[in-house]
Amino acid sequence: MRKKVSIVGAGNVGATAAHWIAAKELADVVLIDVVEGIPQGKALDLLEALPIEKRDVNVTGSNDYAASANSDIVVITAGIPRKPGMSRDDLLNTNFKIMSDVVGKVVQYSPNCILIIVSNPLDAMAQAAYKQSGFSRNRVIGMAGILDSARFRTFIARELDVSIENVTAFVLGGHGDTMVPLPRYSTVAGIPITELMDQATIDRLVQRTRDGGAEIVKYLKTGSAYYAPSAAVAEMVEAILKDKKKIVPCAAYLEGEYGIKGLFVGVPCKLGSNGIEKIIEIKLTPEEQAALQKSADSVKELVGVIGV
Ligand code: LAC
Repeated sequence: MRKKVSIVGAGNVGATAAHWIAAKELADVVLIDVVEGIPQGKALDLLEALPIEKRDVNVTGSNDYAASANSDIVVITAGIPRKPGMSRDDLLNTNFKIMSDVVGKVVQYSPNCILIIVSNPLDAMAQAAYKQSGFSRNRVIGMAGILDSARFRTFIARELDVSIENVTAFVLGGHGDTMVPLPRYSTVAGIPITELMDQATIDRLVQRTRDGGAEIVKYLKTGSAYYAPSAAVAEMVEAILKDKKKIVPCAAYLEGEYGIKGLFVGVPCKLGSNGIEKIIEIKLTPEEQAALQKSADSVKELVGVIGV
């Protein structure tokens, strides 16, 4: 039997995630949204693309969570996106209400699923979903690090004029202005970028990575990024459904790792069929550790506001 992935929120991120997942033939996809006709219409349109793409998966849309029953993975993208000038944190209260409503319904129909949280502010929304679902921490994962790292990788590859296939990068911390790109662990063909670029160049790329989401919002004006965020979701879905044991940065609930307890923060995780199968603790310099702690403190402030 094919695997089943439901995506809550049929906006740009949700619908494009459905596109990547179907294009990779990873699973049957169900799009769920409150707006009548949108999930149905987008799902049917995508389904009708699959004979051309030669992909045997089913894609359906519904306003009713019953359609999501017994999903292996549920991706939650529901919520409002940023407008120019807004930070992700400005979405906190509105998206918390939406998240609480969604998680209740998702868990009712798919009590054994793995949750991938995409709504912003990411780490706080993942924490809200974790607390409300009652799931074990390996089954609630926030999507952020792959996206932020992909942005960093893009800028590194463009700067050095090398293949993106040569570039790996790690961005840890919360998915916000205090995220922590780690140049020492970012490499080109295995060579740390600290050997290939001067500090001023690295600082410029790090800052552009931190501002990566806002850069897109500024262009789009009416919404935020969706191609790269949804591609990051698809990578997580693939790692889980194929039990790849892939190490990628994700927001995970920390219980003492990196000296942080009781908070979702981006760290390197091994993704496999059980979700987060291991949190990898890498050695950080005192400066990197301080930056990660600062980022965790800003997540803590947000979860304090919503009391999760
Ligand atoms: C971004 C939003 C989706 O980083 O958080 O583009």
